[in-house]
Amino acid sequence: MSEPIIVIRPTSADDVPAMASIEALAFSDPWPAMSFRELLAHPYSRMASAVDESGGIVGYCIMLRAVDEAEIANIATAPGMRRRGVGAQLLDDAIAAGTEAGVVALFLEVRESNIAARALYASRGFVAVGRRRGYYKQPVEDALILRRNATAFE
Ligand SMILES: CC(C)(COP(=O)(O)OP(=O)(O)OC[C@H]1O[C@@H](n2cnc3c(N)ncnc32)[C@H](O)[C@@H]1OP(=O)(O)O)[C@@H](O)C(=O)NCCC(=O)NCCS
Repeated sequence: MSEPIIVIRPTSADDVPAMASIEALAFSDPWPAMSFRELLAHPYSRMASAVDESGGIVGYCIMLRAVDEAEIANIATAPGMRRRGVGAQLLDDAIAAGTEAGVVALFLEVRESNIAARALYASRGFVAVGRRRGYYKQPVEDALILRRNATAFE
């Protein structure tokens, strides 16, 4: 399949229903639409939407900043659009924005069994630095804590 033309742009309130739909398909314990709306108003959140040529939302990435550290709080690609570079584009966009803003360390949590996400993160220089036992529910599973230093790949 050819790579789609995807634009990454700031999330707007109008994107939330589509994001919540993707979220419900992507996770067994999805965030409700209200969580996306609350984060839109949060001064330390950076929300980006991936938009296809027809204007449809095909993915999103949410980064939360705290001084010189940040966390990828959520990232997902619509099931029908996976493995076509959307997640990588979203993550690269967040990393670039973090670097621009002076973030020196970027963190995230991932289910240990989430091979797709772990491969994506590893390709962008994230390494495991810890584990939260039984962190996830439905099903219960450990979270791996991954960290990416701003100097990765420099
Ligand atoms: C993880 C996720 C966001 C990846 O999005 P995506 O748009 O499919 O990712 P990309 O096409 O940009 O893939 C980039 C790289 O990630 C890795 N990757 C992605 N999906 C993979 C899979 N199913 N198996 C192995 N590696 C995978 C590959 O290295 C890939 O590069 P390649 O295609 O050149 O080999 C997507 O699978 C998803 O939405 N999953 C459900 C939600 C989720 O788990 N989010 C992460 C929570 S921590």
